[in-house]
Amino acid sequence: MVCYKKGLALLCTGILSSVQAVYLNLNDSQSLNNASALVAVGLMDYYTGTQYGQTIGMFSNPYYWWEAGGAWGCMLDYWYFLNNDTYNDLILQALVYQSGERNDYVPLNQSTTEGNDDQAFWGIAAITAAERNFTNPPPDEPQWLYLAQATFNTMALRWDTGTCNGGLRWQIFVWNSGYDYKNSVSNGALFHLAARLARYTGNHTYVEWAERVYDWMLGIKLISPGETKYVYDGVMVTDNCSGTPVSYQWTYNQGLLLSGCAYLYNYTKDETWGTRTWQFLNSSNVFFNNSVLYEATCQNYGTCNNDQRSFKAYFIRFLGATAQLIPETRDKIMNWINTSALASAQSCNGGLDGHTCGLDWSHDGWDGYYGLGEQMAALEAMVNTKCLDKPPPYNSTNGGTSNGSGAAGTEQGATNLSPLNITAGSKAGAAIITCVIGISIITAGVWLII
Ligand SMILES: *[C@@H]1O[C@H](CO)[C@@H](O)[C@H](O)[C@H]1NC(C)=O
Ligand SMILES: *[C@@H]1O[C@H](CO)[C@@H](O)[C@H](O)[C@H]1NC(C)=O
Ligand SMILES: *[C@@H]1O[C@H](CO)[C@@H](O)[C@H](O)[C@H]1NC(C)=O
Ligand SMILES: *[C@@H]1O[C@H](CO)[C@@H](O)[C@H](O)[C@H]1NC(C)=O
Ligand SMILES: *[C@@H]1O[C@H](CO)[C@@H](O)[C@H](O)[C@H]1NC(C)=O
Ligand SMILES: *[C@@H]1O[C@H](CO)[C@@H](O)[C@H](O)[C@H]1NC(C)=O
Ligand SMILES: *[C@@H]1O[C@H](CO)[C@@H](O)[C@H](O)[C@H]1NC(C)=O
Ligand SMILES: *[C@@H]1O[C@H](CO)[C@@H](O)[C@H](O)[C@H]1NC(C)=O
Ligand SMILES: *[C@@H]1O[C@H](CO)[C@@H](O)[C@H](O)[C@H]1NC(C)=O
Ligand SMILES: *[C@@H]1O[C@H](CO)[C@@H](O)[C@H](O)[C@H]1NC(C)=O
Ligand SMILES: *[C@@H]1O[C@H](CO)[C@@H](O)[C@H](O)[C@H]1NC(C)=O
Ligand SMILES: *[C@@H]1O[C@H](CO)[C@@H](O)[C@H](O)[C@H]1NC(C)=O
Repeated sequence: MVCYKKGLALLCTGILSSVQAVYLNLNDSQSLNNASALVAVGLMDYYTGTQYGQTIGMFSNPYYWWEAGGAWGCMLDYWYFLNNDTYNDLILQALVYQSGERNDYVPLNQSTTEGNDDQAFWGIAAITAAERNFTNPPPDEPQWLYLAQATFNTMALRWDTGTCNGGLRWQIFVWNSGYDYKNSVSNGALFHLAARLARYTGNHTYVEWAERVYDWMLGIKLISPGETKYVYDGVMVTDNCSGTPVSYQWTYNQGLLLSGCAYLYNYTKDETWGTRTWQFLNSSNVFFNNSVLYEATCQNYGTCNNDQRSFKAYFIRFLGATAQLIPETRDKIMNWINTSALASAQSCNGGLDGHTCGLDWSHDGWDGYYGLGEQMAALEAMVNTKCLDKPPPYNSTNGGTSNGSGAAGTEQGATNLSPLNITAGSKAGAAIITCVIGISIITAGVWLII
């Protein structure tokens, strides 16, 4: 008997009762519902939070906490675009349970690994829930808007003018490797959250924050200076960020900036943001092969790690939001989404269940890769073909009903986990860890060149 490992489950030929393949025809909504349901079930196969002794909200090993936040965001998209509420109770339970002791998505459980970017992906799920009027938690639990604002506020408190004239470090905690690295996903996510909070609440302070983060990223060259708008991975704080940024380009970073600009344009109607949206959109061409999305930095080299294999999911989500918010972008974006949805669907005929999704959608059929990220990316591609059939994100006065607070996350005084409490000893520790990170980034680069 041949067995195939899927998450923690072991699927074996002798036991499996039915093998169902994914079939997708975009002219036929029933085929989209059927195909997406198979892929969604495959995604939730990795969810272990309902099993005895496991933690609510968390997916199986080796998927990190941050990716669970990303996955719940995908399930919100599945619910919203395909009108299927099968998983809504689990989504609500997970997003509340993991909100942490201070309701800011910094649960103590995760403090050994959590970075600014990790926190942000849960905060992004929370603002999505608010913008879609997703079922509000009971009144004695934290609310979606509050959670998104607390995420934003605690991140903004970590804005570090001590080096590089600003910017967020990758890590929250000095003992984590990467504390001496200022990267695009952390700063891009702060920008993105600011843009969405501005549009949802109508509070102009968030626009000022978005401008501050954008200008800083541009100044430090994490965003390329010309008409072509690329987003690079990050830069070391040593030498005050004067070094050359690590030049990897990831789809999710491009998407955080692209859609953040789209939210700001939709809200402020300031042409600056409209032009920038188009610049990030046009420059996203580098991630498409005949309109099929791919993770250009690692996919064709076989070097995408578990995290990176989920990045396409967020990028498609952010493309869908951009199409909703700026009508002129729709033809270009929907062509990419539709073509990628069809390509991803034909990659989802793998595994013993017959509907496991692959990584490379240009490959003829399943390419042998499988995992939470593969399921998430294919699901986002499929459900976003319907993004224009649903209302664009609500704000607080035209459909959103979530409650928040401008001071969310800061009522109990500044967090004692802020980088302001760094001691000389922990700085030395951070330096050693930074060396290790530096070396592994260089090693990764060498792999790519080979
Ligand atoms: C879907 O409809 C469009 C236009 O109505 C048509 O061009 C296309 O061939 C159809 N696709 C399939 C798979 O039937
Ligand atoms: C969708 O699934 C249902 C139930 O399994 C089936 O009856 C129907 O034929 C399927 N439709 C398509 C278009 O695949
Ligand atoms: C809703 O989702 C569940 C789980 O993915 C699936 O079994 C069910 O068939 C879906 N319903 C429809 C109408 O597609
Ligand atoms: C923290 O971890 C413990 C042990 O893994 C688990 O039982 C508990 O549910 C976790 N709490 C949260 C909020 O994740
Ligand atoms: C660091 O760079 C910023 C500009 O990015 C500059 O304003 C600041 O003076 C520099 N600090 C040091 C210590 O060189
Ligand atoms: C919400 O959007 C509507 C337009 O759809 C606008 O009139 C209203 O001012 C917005 N509310 C806030 C709080 O910005
Ligand atoms: C984006 O590309 C289109 C052509 O596809 C072009 O018309 C437009 O001017 C470009 N916009 C920007 C801001 O580069
Ligand atoms: C904002 O989004 C709405 C909904 O898609 C759209 O009707 C409106 O034209 C957008 N506003 C701008 C300035 O693009
Ligand atoms: C994408 O597919 C949807 C159907 O799901 C269709 O309404 C839309 O016209 C298509 N757009 C493009 C650009 O192919
Ligand atoms: C683009 O897709 C084709 C198949 O459609 C494939 O042969 C080619 O290798 C792909 N190129 C890249 C850069 O992925
Ligand atoms: C939002 O949710 C509330 C509470 O469930 C409901 O009363 C209201 O009709 C919903 N509004 C929209 C626009 O969906
Ligand atoms: C606007 O947002 C800022 C930044 O989070 C906050 O300090 C302020 O209290 C908010 N203002 C209102 C009226 O909510």
